[in-house]
Amino acid sequence: MENFTFYAPTYFSFGKGSEKDIGALVKRFGGKKVLVHYGGGSVKRNGIFDKVIASLNESNIPYVELGGVRPNPRSGLVYKGIDICRKENIDFILAVGGGSVIDSAKAIAAGTVYDGDFWDYYSTGKKVDRALPVGTVLTIAAAGSEGSPDSVITHEDGMYKRGASGEALRPKFSILNPEFTETLPAYQTACGISDIMAHVCERYFSNTKNVEITDRLCEGVLKAMIEESPKVIKNPHDYEARANIMWAGMVAHNNIVGVGREQDWSSHAIEHELSALYDVAHGAGLAVIVPAWMKYVMKKNLGKFVQFAVRVWGCDMNFENPEITAMEGINRYSAFLTSLGMPSNFKELGAKEEDIPTLVKHLGATDENPIGGYVKLGPKDIEAIYRLAL
Ligand code: NZQ
Ligand code: ZN
Repeated sequence: MENFTFYAPTYFSFGKGSEKDIGALVKRFGGKKVLVHYGGGSVKRNGIFDKVIASLNESNIPYVELGGVRPNPRSGLVYKGIDICRKENIDFILAVGGGSVIDSAKAIAAGTVYDGDFWDYYSTGKKVDRALPVGTVLTIAAAGSEGSPDSVITHEDGMYKRGASGEALRPKFSILNPEFTETLPAYQTACGISDIMAHVCERYFSNTKNVEITDRLCEGVLKAMIEESPKVIKNPHDYEARANIMWAGMVAHNNIVGVGREQDWSSHAIEHELSALYDVAHGAGLAVIVPAWMKYVMKKNLGKFVQFAVRVWGCDMNFENPEITAMEGINRYSAFLTSLGMPSNFKELGAKEEDIPTLVKHLGATDENPIGGYVKLGPKDIEAIYRLAL
C-alpha cells in the first residue's frame, strides 16, 4: 500500500426529512446570504425546491436564485453566477440537484474569490485553494460530487470538458434524502448507476500490491450495486434500494475506496470528450467506454481482470486460459449495464466514427504525456479504444 492522506470533512445528513437541517447547516458553516443554484427545473416540479426554501426561511437566511444549469454544465452560467455572487455579497452557495448543478456551484464558489478567470483552474490543473463554502442537496445518485473535491465544466468556447480539483471545493455539508431521487426517469437512474460503478473501477484497476482492504471495499460496493440496481429500475419508489445506491454514489467517489493505490481514470478522460462533443449523459458515455477500455487493456495487464471476473461477477476460473475468465467478467459487466437500459456502442450513444480523430485531438494525450495509471495510453491506444466502442 502507498502512503496517503485522507481528509474528507463533509457533514452528511442522510434520510427522509434530512432537508429540514439545511438552514441550520448553512448557519453552522458561516452562511449569511445564499445563492440557491439549480438545474433545468426538475426541483421546482417535484417540490424539492420549496422544501429547501422552507428550511432557509425558517432560519431567516436570505437567498438569491440561479437556475438553468444544464447537464454537462457550461462556463457561461458560471460567469453569470460569479457576477451575481459579487454584486449580491453572497457568502454561501447551495447546490440543489445532481453533479452538474454541484459542479457549477463549485466553479462559481472558486471563481467568486479568484482575481483571474475561473477557467484557469480547469485549463491548468492548478489546485483550488480558496472558494466560497458550498452545501449540496443531492437529487441524483451518480457523480459523487456531494463528497468530492472535484468539479467538471464544459467551456462553450470549443466545447472542452475539463476538471478542477482542490480541498476548498469539498462541500461543507450534503443533504442526502433518497426520496428525492424517486422522480428520476429510469434512464437517468441507470446513467447514475453506470457512473458510480465506473468510479469504483477507476480505482480498482491498480498495479499497487497489497491493497486488500480497498480491493474488498471496491468489490463490496460493486456487488451491492449489482444487487440493488435492478430493483430501482423495476420500481423507482423502492426507498431502501434508492438509499443504498445513494450512499454508494458517495462512497464510490470520496476516495475512501481508492486511498493508498495508484488509480487509472483513462475511461473518464476518454468519456469526457464524448459528453463534450455530443452532449450525451456522462454515465451513458461510460457504459460504452469502460467495457471498451477493459477489453483493450485486459491483454496488457491481465491479473486484476481475472480477480474482477471471479470475485465481482462470480465467473468460474479458467486456469488454462485466464483470458477467457477475464473476458467473461467484462462481458457480464457490459451486459449488466445494457440490462439497465444503457447504450453499449457509439451508434446507440449517438456518436460518430468519423469524429474519432477529433475526440483524440481534444483529449490532448501524447506519447510523452499519456493518460492512465493501470495502463499508460497514448493517442494510438485512445483511438483504438474509441474504435472498440463502435
Ligand atoms: O436539470 P434538471 O431539471 O434538474 O434535470 C436533471 C438533469 O436533466 C435530472 N434530474 C436530477 N435529479 C432529478 C432529475 N430529474 C428528476 N428527478 C430528480 N430527482 O437529471 C439530469 C442529469 O443531471 P446531472 O446533474 O447532469 O447528472 P449527474 O449527477 O450524473 O452529473 C453529471 C455531471 O457530473 C460530472 C459529469 O462529467 C457530468 O458533467 N462529474 C462530476 C464529478 C465530480 N464533480 O466529482 C465526477 C464524475 O465522474 C463526473 O465526471
Ligand atoms: Zn464519473
